[in-house]
Amino acid sequence: MEPEPWHKNAVVYALDVETFSDSDGNGVGDFRGLIDQLDYLNRLGVSALWLLPFYPTPNRDNGYDVKDYYGVDPRLGTLGDFVEFVHEADDRGIRVIVDLVVNHTSDQHPWFEQARSDPDSKYRDYYVWVEEPPPPDPERGTVFPGEVEDERVWTYDTSADAYYFHRFYPFQPDLNLANPAVREEIYKIMKFWLELGVDGFRIDAATLMIQPKHPDAERLDDPHELLRSLKRHVLAQEGDAILLAEADDAPDELASYFGDSDEMDLLMNFVLNAHTIAALAMEDAGPLVTGLDRLPEAGSGQWLTFLRNYDELNIGRLPASLREDVFERFAPEEGMRIYGRGIRRRIAPMLDGDQDRIELAYSLLFSLPGTPLVLYGDEIGMGDDLSRPGRTSVRTPMQWNDQPNAGFSSAPDADLVAPVVTTGDFGYERVNVAAQRSDPTSLLNWTQRLIATRRECPEIGNGTVEVIETDESSVFAHRCDWNERTVFCVHNLASESCTAHLAVDLARPDPISPTFGTSQLSPVEDGGCEIALDGYGYGWYRVDADQGD
Ligand code: NOJ
Repeated sequence: MEPEPWHKNAVVYALDVETFSDSDGNGVGDFRGLIDQLDYLNRLGVSALWLLPFYPTPNRDNGYDVKDYYGVDPRLGTLGDFVEFVHEADDRGIRVIVDLVVNHTSDQHPWFEQARSDPDSKYRDYYVWVEEPPPPDPERGTVFPGEVEDERVWTYDTSADAYYFHRFYPFQPDLNLANPAVREEIYKIMKFWLELGVDGFRIDAATLMIQPKHPDAERLDDPHELLRSLKRHVLAQEGDAILLAEADDAPDELASYFGDSDEMDLLMNFVLNAHTIAALAMEDAGPLVTGLDRLPEAGSGQWLTFLRNYDELNIGRLPASLREDVFERFAPEEGMRIYGRGIRRRIAPMLDGDQDRIELAYSLLFSLPGTPLVLYGDEIGMGDDLSRPGRTSVRTPMQWNDQPNAGFSSAPDADLVAPVVTTGDFGYERVNVAAQRSDPTSLLNWTQRLIATRRECPEIGNGTVEVIETDESSVFAHRCDWNERTVFCVHNLASESCTAHLAVDLARPDPISPTFGTSQLSPVEDGGCEIALDGYGYGWYRVDADQGD
């Protein structure tokens, strides 16, 4: 039997070096600090890290405005520190995925500086220019409505005497990916980081990369060929390195990103994210069943499933009335919402800090088809800081202990890259790694067990998924089958306890004890089985082929 590729059964942990751990006391997290924490991550059991952009940057969009693709932001360390980090991660069997932000550059990138100042420069055509901007297209407006004064996607540049195109902020000019020279630059960048040992790239804004920039723009003959060419270059250099795409596209477009197993290996599953959040909010399995239904087959590709990432929690693709209900329950105040489509809170505060409910939510996530992602700090139930602007509310420093600055940094607090959460139920004195390590009932220790169990259950990452009918609307039950083995998973999304009947025959007379969770799954005489679940109760049940049809 062919071994399954590593990313199908990974547990990915997303972190931003600048807010993780500061080794030199200047208030900014750095690679040496991250190296010091690798044993923590190893103990937690994660198998891959996704690093947010760490390249030299004016940092006006959390590093997604890159001005040098071949370096490390000096605030975070040196290229040497990066290489050491990759080696140390590798020693612990932890893979490293880095963000590749090539839909656009910073306006301070030397390519753009030359493009704007010299019409004859070869870099002029690295970007998308027009003399007169076309009329605004409501379908292709700015991605961050309400955050910029001028919401147009064309900005006039005085030295070029022309308008350049940008779907994000005006300081992020879009690259002209129809220009073969730009594509060659991208291959070179990938080659460089693969050479330094990375195991994959998260392709930022993949959806926008393959869209035509404007009606008259030079076009890619076959947009997906761009993604295929990225994959070919990775494969040629590093057989098992992967591409993970940020493709927040309509569900019926998603399968195309996997191509014929020759494009993306992993796709961030925004569809399932929104529907899982809706199911949690409504305490009803219905939206989750709909979400799974809306997903195309991933084929040999894989979904990256998550409850939260470091952007807004985007519920914009839910039907309008459901979206309003979710806002009402999880973001009742205007200040908790963003861009008319998203929530800017972390999971723990959204779930009122209720540990049982947080555990239910993560157990559910880890049981869904795909490779799960944990956002740094969610393993201890970190909160947010809604006094911070926009998406930065969920980007506060990691809370390591109850010492000043949560042990993140020894700098004076005025020098911190972002303020630590100090007050309320999620303040660092209450919520931190050190306190939870020594408490066997803590969320941290529970998460560690969850990760270990998930890694023991390759049926979930590799197998087929089937929803099991139940007679309780709050209970979501499903099975994952792979290689003659099955995992049944049952989750009660409601605070009320219940006894649910599941339409599945266990083909055995005696109850099954959970691999994870507490309740037993018991066969009943007239067929099917039964389970008694506490409010927010759950269970995973692993059985051999001859034990469940
Ligand atoms: C998507 C990233 O997730 C987001 O944080 C960033 O602002 C935009 N791309 C622009 O790069």
